[in-house]
Amino acid sequence: MCGIVGYVGDSGSTLDVLLGGLSNLEYRGYDSAGVAVGGETLRVEKRAGELETLEAAVGSADRRRFEGPVGLGHTRWSTHGPPTDENAHPHTDEDGRVAVVHNGIVENYRDLRDELEAEGVAFTSETDTEVVPHLIARELRGEADPEAAVRAATERLEGSYALAVVIEGIDALFAARQDSPLVLGVGEGESFVASDVPAFLDHTRDVVYLDDGEFVRLDPGGWTVTDAEGRQVEKPVHTVEWEAEETGKSGYDHYTLKEIHEQPRSLRQCLSGRLDELGGRVTVEELDGIDAPASVQFVACGTSYHAALYGAQLLRDRGTPATAHYAHEYATAPAPIADGDLVIGVTQSGETADTLSALREAAGRGAETLVLTNVVGSTAARECDHAVYIRAGPEIGVAATKTFTSQLVGLNLLAARLAGGDRQRDLVDALRRVPDDVQAVLDESGAASVVEAFADSEAFFFLGRGLGYPVALEGALKFKEITYEHAEGFAAGELKHGPLALVTGETPVFAVVTGDGEAARKTIGNVKEVEARDAPVVVVTDGAAEAGRYADHVLEIPETDPRLAPLLANVQLQLVAYHRAARLDRSIDKPRHLAKSVTVE
Ligand code: M6R
Repeated sequence: MCGIVGYVGDSGSTLDVLLGGLSNLEYRGYDSAGVAVGGETLRVEKRAGELETLEAAVGSADRRRFEGPVGLGHTRWSTHGPPTDENAHPHTDEDGRVAVVHNGIVENYRDLRDELEAEGVAFTSETDTEVVPHLIARELRGEADPEAAVRAATERLEGSYALAVVIEGIDALFAARQDSPLVLGVGEGESFVASDVPAFLDHTRDVVYLDDGEFVRLDPGGWTVTDAEGRQVEKPVHTVEWEAEETGKSGYDHYTLKEIHEQPRSLRQCLSGRLDELGGRVTVEELDGIDAPASVQFVACGTSYHAALYGAQLLRDRGTPATAHYAHEYATAPAPIADGDLVIGVTQSGETADTLSALREAAGRGAETLVLTNVVGSTAARECDHAVYIRAGPEIGVAATKTFTSQLVGLNLLAARLAGGDRQRDLVDALRRVPDDVQAVLDESGAASVVEAFADSEAFFFLGRGLGYPVALEGALKFKEITYEHAEGFAAGELKHGPLALVTGETPVFAVVTGDGEAARKTIGNVKEVEARDAPVVVVTDGAAEAGRYADHVLEIPETDPRLAPLLANVQLQLVAYHRAARLDRSIDKPRHLAKSVTVE
């Protein structure tokens, strides 16, 4: 989704800071980009397409035109109007004195636009955002001071916004936040605003998390945050633990591959201090003081929804009733809530609008809420009653990989802590080993050669049962996201109830078969069904049920606790998707049409 970066400072390199920040926000997904640099004069350049197109446009202009102590940058993910130069941000007023970047949706923009057009204002874009610079300009013409003008304009807006504004002749930047992410970075003689921390991580790790309704003014000498009534708000400065180097590619061809290979480390971080190996129990500090819930409802989207399905089953296996819901469905059709119920949002970003909306719906109806997230200070972390962090570090690839496996581990910790039970020692032992088990999969995976066998296939199916089912769904989602090829995940037993009609000799089937229990035996039965229809079969297996005997190809995983085997199988499926996408030369880190953080409903 749209990315914002804003800068005020004395470095003399405003444009470079902005372009670097935008480059660090590319992972959010975008289709156009722009910058504005202010001071005595205000210069704007914006282009549809990749950041490179903008850099070329700025580079071919006289770069001295872009000198000044204050600036804004934006990557746009289209909502109102197609990706064109005109619709790219920053948007300006008619005189080019006010430049605005925006993330979110101005819901009453049609009324505001009609009002402004009736006054003779000429619009140059189809966006909802363009009303904002015109509203500010009108206030300035009415002789409001710059800060008052920006405040007055934002008061007219309905909907969601993270806004940043520069005005010609003013060495200050104004920003405001309502239901859209915006953070403040505090450096020496410089300060930043951005949609997300990586935008300024090369310059500072000191961060102020802004709340809805807050307004920021950045000056060369410092920053102030005020509330909707203009009263100054004391905000704590947090130091983020992410290192700038964590956001680089470290020699890998893609961030996605780097993040797949980082999983042993990210899982160790997730587990650090949470395993009491002597006592054979898990400890999750963030959950101190929480009672065992009567029942649990998970809300989530996409990959996080697959993690939620897995978490719900873990809890049910321990005797706690639990269900997983798509957050966008739950937000408008919530499940009934009773005393003692806990609603858990699973969201790596903590900013997914659908998930926030579902959590707010649950909280509004009296539920206790908890979020399992990767981002400290994210909106969900701040709004929920409790937050548990998966500590995966920054994930730049749009397709979630390491955050999914950290979610699975986090959900095992949550389930053990919230639902107790007597199987903790086995789990603790297996969790302790899981980073090494993942490393073994990464070291020995045959995924790259398996995908070579299916050069001409155009549809791929993924089967799983029990805890293997969410992993089959996730395997298919990852595959379609980064290869752009048709892939579907199914509960293995469901295939014969309809989808089997799609199975042919040209449709490879990946089956997750772990352990040697009833679920594995039944899944092998389903494998035989597809084999009888000539489908090439790949089993992802620990070998316990000898499923390899019925397969054309085997992707092996180490034997482990049955709750963690699906996690290891998922790593194989990540590699399958990655190698297939690399073979097809896809845009793996930034798949077409997708955004990392989906901040609109
Ligand atoms: O930040 P979240 O975990 O809430 O994001 C939810 C989905 O948008 C996300 O998982 C999406 O499906 C990814 N593209 C998956 O790779």
